[in-house]
Amino acid sequence: MVTVRRRTSWALLAAGLTACGHAAPTGAPAPAASAPIAAQEQARVPADWRFSLHPTFATAEHGMVATDAALGTRVGVDVLRAGGNAVDAAVATAFALAVVYPGAGNIGGGGFMVVRMADGRTAALDFREMAPQAATRNMYLDSAGNLTDRSVEGWLSSGVPGSVMGLWEAHRRFGSKPWATLLAPAIRMAEEGFVVDADLHRSLEYSQKRMSQYPGSAALFYPGGQPPAEGSTFRNPALAHTLRLIAERGPAGFYEGETAETIEREMKANGGIITREDLKRYVAKWRDPVEFTYRGHRIISMPPSSSGGLTLALIADILSGYDLRSLGWHTPAHLHFLAEAMRRAFADRNALLADADFTPVPRDQFLSPAYAARLRATIDPNKATPSSEVRPGLGVAAGGTHTTHFGVVDAQGDAVALTTTLNNGYGSGVTIAGAGFLMNDEMDDFAAKPGSPNMFGLVQLEANAIAPGKRPLSAMTPTIVLDEQGKPMMVAGASGGPRIITAVFQVLSNVLDFGMDVGSGVAAPRVHQQHLPDVLYYESRGVTPDLLQALGGMGYQTPNTGGVGDACTIVRTGNVWTGLADPRGGGVAEGY
Ligand code: DON
Repeated sequence: MVTVRRRTSWALLAAGLTACGHAAPTGAPAPAASAPIAAQEQARVPADWRFSLHPTFATAEHGMVATDAALGTRVGVDVLRAGGNAVDAAVATAFALAVVYPGAGNIGGGGFMVVRMADGRTAALDFREMAPQAATRNMYLDSAGNLTDRSVEGWLSSGVPGSVMGLWEAHRRFGSKPWATLLAPAIRMAEEGFVVDADLHRSLEYSQKRMSQYPGSAALFYPGGQPPAEGSTFRNPALAHTLRLIAERGPAGFYEGETAETIEREMKANGGIITREDLKRYVAKWRDPVEFTYRGHRIISMPPSSSGGLTLALIADILSGYDLRSLGWHTPAHLHFLAEAMRRAFADRNALLADADFTPVPRDQFLSPAYAARLRATIDPNKATPSSEVRPGLGVAAGGTHTTHFGVVDAQGDAVALTTTLNNGYGSGVTIAGAGFLMNDEMDDFAAKPGSPNMFGLVQLEANAIAPGKRPLSAMTPTIVLDEQGKPMMVAGASGGPRIITAVFQVLSNVLDFGMDVGSGVAAPRVHQQHLPDVLYYESRGVTPDLLQALGGMGYQTPNTGGVGDACTIVRTGNVWTGLADPRGGGVAEGY
């Protein structure tokens, strides 16, 4: 079994900071989401499962925002109420999260955005970090060729941030309100301060040892050696200043001039390699969205440099050959087929996907029903396939971390799914002193040593090796599901590293296969398989002893884990938007 190289991230996820028989194939659409989890399904969830399966979710007629932080949600709803569209609200929310949710909301990181406008336009925006020009393939190996922790710690772990350029691009193409107006709430909260809630206090406390090593972070987040107390007011005037430059000058306020100089100076003084030239060269890219059909619904998701959409499509396509509903939710057969589809899709993902600007990516294969059928045919209905027998691209041989996802829908029917991250909780741990923002440690998403596990235990190969200007492969999966009329009926996505993809699939499937409403669909326990390590993770207290025993009998090792993703989700039922911020996180969904 492959072990996870470093404990930090799993620990973060575990702390919640951020984490048989064949049935006849069917392609028939399942009933629309409408009801809480059914009684016979609920009976398969242990009584001490950590969350209510009937959480109170938000309902609204016009628009909805679901994020990991109440103050971020409020900013988005205010923009919608003032007549902004979903993209305006997403831009304002993303900047607000950089202030009030600093573990993952960011301007020093990157992300992905999927858009569906009411007029039928779809778009996918890649604002993933890029490796600096001075990056080299083996930059994180020591002289003996072993991996170090420099891809996750400190100045050297950062890629060139993409968030500011991404939000600018999204606004330039789809926005309707003035740019500066959308930054105003974030600037105000950074300048005047906001009230620290229990989640922020706890997560800063949790990360204190790590972050205190870096002077900019120590001064900002631990003045007097302590994280800000719950209920106190937290101000970040340096960030307000940086945001004001961005409000006034657009991306030039970040990628050029004072902020770029400050970043370069801090990097040079501390062994980092990002230069002003790197910042100036940063580009956000519009990509062709991944589109596929599951149970009669058109699904729009993110292509490389995220693996999210293609891996989601392959999992869905493999599983479309089973009638999951008649297998029964969380029966041994259901979890077995889920795990085997995940295992095969992740084997391909880990080996074949990468930044398509650098490495040819077999996109058509990931979207080919015939290829999915070949993979499906290798699944033994009665037992687990060892991951060692699942070869990428061929199927079976013969014989916390911290990211934040949010969704926005508006009264016209525009929809945005946006996932953004610094990678680890608080990224590299480094706050750019004087500029008030944290830098990412996204370089760890590359295969720093192909064939060796990264922070998430992902064993990725040559395709995703480090090269200057390349974007590390992501698992972020912002996704929009359309109904038969082509109108958005679901906005999905998650945080949680590789578990993002499997969390998103399970939320989609809970709604589309099992007819669950947004409450049960998101709150229900989940599982995760990523090829290697060769285990099937389940969320602690999420699976009954009987089920574990049955899975053990099929050949699964089943360690428990803190969480499988944090999936803020919006679902439309009829003309009503319903939204739930995943109870695994501390957010809020609100509409009007
Ligand atoms: O892009 C990725 O796949 C990772 N950097 C995401 C990290 C993450 O979700 C951490 N959070 N919970």
